[in-house]
Amino acid sequence: MKPPRDVTECDHWHPLVAHGPVPTLRELFAADPDRARRWIVDAGDLRIDLSKHLVDEAVWASLIALADEMDIERRRDDQLAGRVVNTTERRPAAHTVLRAPRHTSLHIAGVDAVEQVHEVLDRMAELANRVRDGHWRGSTGRRLRTVINVGIGGSDLGPQMVYEALRHLALPGLECRFVSNVDGAHLAMALRGVDPAETLLLVSSKTFTTAETMANARSARAWLVESLGENALGDHMVAVTTNVDAAVEFGVRPEAVFGFWDWVGGRFSLDSAIGLSVMIAMGPEAFGELLGGMRLIDEHVATAPVHRNAPILMALLGVWYTGVLGFPSRVVVPYAQQLHRFPAYLQQLEMESNGKSVRHDGTPVSLPTSPVVWGEPGTNGQHAFFQLLHQGTHIVPVDFIGFSRSPHVLSHSVDLTGHHDLLLANLLAQSAALAFGRTADEVASAGVAPELVPHRTFPGNRPSTVILAEALSPSTLGQIVSLYEHVVTTQGLLWGINSFDQWGVELGKELATSLVPALVEGVGVDQWDSSTRESIVWLRRTR
Ligand code: F6P
Repeated sequence: MKPPRDVTECDHWHPLVAHGPVPTLRELFAADPDRARRWIVDAGDLRIDLSKHLVDEAVWASLIALADEMDIERRRDDQLAGRVVNTTERRPAAHTVLRAPRHTSLHIAGVDAVEQVHEVLDRMAELANRVRDGHWRGSTGRRLRTVINVGIGGSDLGPQMVYEALRHLALPGLECRFVSNVDGAHLAMALRGVDPAETLLLVSSKTFTTAETMANARSARAWLVESLGENALGDHMVAVTTNVDAAVEFGVRPEAVFGFWDWVGGRFSLDSAIGLSVMIAMGPEAFGELLGGMRLIDEHVATAPVHRNAPILMALLGVWYTGVLGFPSRVVVPYAQQLHRFPAYLQQLEMESNGKSVRHDGTPVSLPTSPVVWGEPGTNGQHAFFQLLHQGTHIVPVDFIGFSRSPHVLSHSVDLTGHHDLLLANLLAQSAALAFGRTADEVASAGVAPELVPHRTFPGNRPSTVILAEALSPSTLGQIVSLYEHVVTTQGLLWGINSFDQWGVELGKELATSLVPALVEGVGVDQWDSSTRESIVWLRRTR
């Protein structure tokens, strides 16, 4: 049986809309002493606490039934099987194949995609090992010590986030720097203090046509040529792209071009060759562990029943919050400094995927889609925006992420364990304070002056997910990434949108290209609206 065309047409949608106010978290926890145990879901090595959500048993039951009515499991299996699910670009979205085990197979357009993936992984490992052990040297015979990854969007955010997260595992003496912004400041700062003779320029671009990346790649190439000469380029450049011919034309040796496929979307590509910088820094073994972690969650999503299936439950919660309770935003707060780029990575994953207003068939969606995703590591965020989370007029569901142990030591005598104790205590305290708040009576009975009671009262009832793992490792990081990938694609299924295209990025790109002549040469200034025109004139006068 075909699922309903839209989630709002489902029988199980109506009780959700008609439900009326859910009891508060204080009431839910008081009524059910086992609530936490029942709503902590294990997925791989992740322990995901969904108990502090504004959902009672009736709402959970309707949401779970909704997933069934929308035929989520079968449609998810279509994606996992490599069928065409990116309808506007007529492609599969088969990124889960990137971590499929060797010797399995999945055919896409008649070709075994798993075999292709492992061929590339083997070549990546060979290159990574040669750079790491010093067999691949620069044109002057020096070891390569700096990898400059030039890319943007998915060709930057994923590998950069993983590199920062696992930096403690990087080979000493080998550093990766990431250049994405077309602002020349980014490239200039990234190349500061770097010796071209020890540099490997890694141009990462699925299309090899993205304007920002090509501008940065051309300037970085010119910087190499200036000190090493044109003939040296082959020893200093690698490319990751689906557009192999363009990379070779750019001067990359054919054997240093690493391919991937149009069935891998940019924001789902960190485990493809786009992760080459990570593999060079951490080594092929750690990269393999990252893939293994992603696979664990792929297996979880494919096999766990809906009521214990973490990504499906998290996706359902998102639809409930944006579609029924009207919360337009969600914040992610990793209590791990090394995950400081995780919110930026997640912004692209979620908002480029699900920031859509029309369904597959081009008709308008009936519910709000992707929330605005933002965040910062804890505890820093506590001293910035947590005031709003606790006492502001918006309710913003929070994703907390934390780890039992930290691998960091400063020296034999300086112990950092106390830092980690504080970090974790803050994570748990924030989640509890948001959920349960502090009533006016509690504040008053603590002896607070009456006129300050309203100011010091915390309404509570603010939901959060707490995701915990034992340690931030390649495997657990892969699990977290895969978890969110599946949340995003499941939400796309619930909303009936295509999570795999990004036409919304195009208009701005097009206009920027046509604006350059107006800005640089003053050509065609009059054709712009008065706001743009005035800015062009002012900028031309002041440059
Ligand atoms: O922002 C649009 C986008 O196409 C992203 O989806 C992609 O990750 C990014 O640009 C970079 O594209 P490319 O890897 O082709 O340079």
